Amino acid sequence: MNKLRIIDIITNPKINEVININGWVRTRRGSKDISFVALNDGSTIKNLQIVVELSKFKEDLIKKITTGSCINVEGVIVSSSGSEQTLEINAKKINILGSADSSEYPLQPKKHSLEFLREKAHLRFRTNTFSAIFRIRHGLTFAIHNYFNNNGYLNIHTPIITGADAEGAGEMFRVSNLDLNNLPKNEKNNIDFSKDFFGKQTNLTVSGQLEAELGALALGKVYTFGPTFRAENSNTSRHLSEFWMIEPETAFADLNDNMDLAEDFLKYCITYCMEKYKDDLNFLNHRLEEEEKNLKKEERSGMSLLERLNFIVKNTFERITYTKAIEILKNSKPNKKKRFKFIINGFGDDLQSEHERYLVEKKFGKPVIITDYPKGIKSFYMKMNEDNLTVRAMDILFPLIGEMVGGSQREENLEKLSARMSEMGVDQKELWWYMETRKFGTCKHSGFGLGFERLMMFITGMKNIRDVIPFPRTPQNAEF
Ligand code: 4AD
Ligand code: MG
Repeated sequence: MNKLRIIDIITNPKINEVININGWVRTRRGSKDISFVALNDGSTIKNLQIVVELSKFKEDLIKKITTGSCINVEGVIVSSSGSEQTLEINAKKINILGSADSSEYPLQPKKHSLEFLREKAHLRFRTNTFSAIFRIRHGLTFAIHNYFNNNGYLNIHTPIITGADAEGAGEMFRVSNLDLNNLPKNEKNNIDFSKDFFGKQTNLTVSGQLEAELGALALGKVYTFGPTFRAENSNTSRHLSEFWMIEPETAFADLNDNMDLAEDFLKYCITYCMEKYKDDLNFLNHRLEEEEKNLKKEERSGMSLLERLNFIVKNTFERITYTKAIEILKNSKPNKKKRFKFIINGFGDDLQSEHERYLVEKKFGKPVIITDYPKGIKSFYMKMNEDNLTVRAMDILFPLIGEMVGGSQREENLEKLSARMSEMGVDQKELWWYMETRKFGTCKHSGFGLGFERLMMFITGMKNIRDVIPFPRTPQNAEF
């Protein structure tokens, strides 16, 4: 295998050195005597320019150096007078590793729409935009593990197949190996799940939280980072049916500690990407500027990519209660003038992304954390406040996206938890193991969930969540 990569040559060029490099051809242009090949190997957004003197090579070979083909080049590094690069390679030998018939290859050297590229997700890694996105996706993953490792958190792998429904029924994918054409029935003529693979009904998890809590109540600080699955039929630009979630859970931490952690964590991850992925972010910043030129003023985001990243890193997040947020929203101009799609009437209303964005972008001009939501619109495990109306929940709101993080302090008192579960119709028998952590050595603890692709959207400036995960799963779509 050839170990040299384009990033190595560009960061540490040794003029006159003979090198051997593999990559995919982005473009070939030039005259009848000479061709300039832009070669990319995925290690950087930058292409390496290969100078091919046509007289030195067979015509058959030259014809195969087309966009999309994979080649191996041996050549000498020379300095270049071109405006786009300071060095180039004078090709001595070229091998075609894999040709790409230009009459069939779907990615031509021109601008393709993101929708088109979604249908070619198996090849879109080869575009500048998607190679930048997936390098950053890797970097962000790494930053997340780094952050928690540096702060004493243990990574635990919570199950993907689960017998419990963490957040409330109705949005889970069933896991079964029963024969759908010949389902076993019990005496009541219902499906007999005792005959199913696990001897009970099982689903794909919607969250690793409940199991993470078990870990935290022994290991102190834990986090999960895994795929989660939701069968909601929400076909929006911010929802996936399969997405990745980061869920830390901290023993002896209250809601304030939880918010401090989330804010520090988000700032760390964004700063990490800004420092390590400058070239890719500059490229995406420019891409977004170009994209927005074609939009009407009111559709533009009003912030460049780099501005929005600094917006998170440089601001202290505003923390307000849900009750205060409702008051602000109720009296806001877009509410009074009925410009919101969902009008805010008062306490109990759920916040939509238009309200969240108003608070962040118009009212405060910084990221906002909303706390103490009404119990009726939040999950059973959240700690009840003394008012008996609100729970110790928090949502972190970002510009352009709305909800980025959802979390809470957990109800650690067995009686209160049990009462809430009855009230909300959550099966206590099914969750006997969760209840036992409240029975044996319970303590105050808190955690949150960050939607990995939501943060990816924010960092890359992509407007559709389908463009920040390699192979998106959404209603009616599981190709690749
Ligand atoms: O607010 P959610 O539903 O919270 C939980 O699942 C808790 N168990 C988290 C916890 O406390 N440990 O989801 C958390 C985050 C949301 O804020 C959002 O960023 C993201 O997950 N998210 C989605 N991302 C993509 N597609 C979807 N369908 C998403 N649903 C939630
Ligand atoms: Mg939420």
